[in-house]
Amino acid sequence: MSSTAGSTRSIFEVQKLFLARLAEDCGAEHLVIPSFPDVTLRIRNLADAADSTLIQLVAAVSLEPVLAAQVLRLANSALYRQSGPVETSLARAIQRLGMAELRDIAVMFGMRQLSLAPTVAPFRDYLREVWEHSLLVAQAARFIAQHARMANAGSAQLAGLLHDLGKFYVVLRAQDYPELLEAGQSLASIAADWHCPVGRALLEGWGLPLPVQLVAEEHEDLERDPIRLLPDLTDVVALANALANHGEGASDEELVTLLATAAGRRLQLEPVGLRSCFQSAHEAAEEARRAFPSL
Ligand SMILES: [Fe+2]
Ligand SMILES: [Fe+2]
Repeated sequence: MSSTAGSTRSIFEVQKLFLARLAEDCGAEHLVIPSFPDVTLRIRNLADAADSTLIQLVAAVSLEPVLAAQVLRLANSALYRQSGPVETSLARAIQRLGMAELRDIAVMFGMRQLSLAPTVAPFRDYLREVWEHSLLVAQAARFIAQHARMANAGSAQLAGLLHDLGKFYVVLRAQDYPELLEAGQSLASIAADWHCPVGRALLEGWGLPLPVQLVAEEHEDLERDPIRLLPDLTDVVALANALANHGEGASDEELVTLLATAAGRRLQLEPVGLRSCFQSAHEAAEEARRAFPSL
């Protein structure tokens, strides 16, 4: 039911309609995030295909000058440069980064573009916070996975980047309900309630691997599967997410509490190891954030 001239919908009515819409979207077969840049999906497909060439990747990245600049900047940042010379060729920068890193940079770019969409101006600060939080969780997940010697550590960064993608979807979808955009905090709390199933549906629609979809769906639950013994990708991102929510100043006691959860127990980390993962993650996330200076 839509509003008509002379009738005003109460915010509760609008919320109810919006929640019904989100529930419907969660069951959709190919959920697409509005305004997500094509280049991100194109690069992801190329990075995942066995037969893609460097020429194809350079061509895809070159379509977005802002992305090309960020690829060069990150390839020359302390994160990736190591002792090599400053790289000015896009092709060599992409070679230095590697396929997986290029795919993750394209995802960071896509999420940043979402938060700059003019239609979400009232929520720009909120989406920037979610974006910066996602960068931190991605790096924390990468360090935790390496520290815990997980076989799929390479997927941890991507899963961390995408874990809260559902929040972007909720805010972008609310464009159809202007009353919600004006209502401020209530939309952020709807995003908090709905981002997990919505995120799963989005990543399923994009054809991402099931473990990454499950991260989006279950990362808020540190106590899932209490009797399972081996850690999985969701444990890594759930711990990284909880750590990021605690902030840099998490006390030893808080770290011990996190490590006593089902996810924390399976990862078998010491508080000192977890703290060092988080410190390294902060530095790496800051480096990545600096590569996107216009936010
Ligand atoms: Fe979340
Ligand atoms: Fe999160």
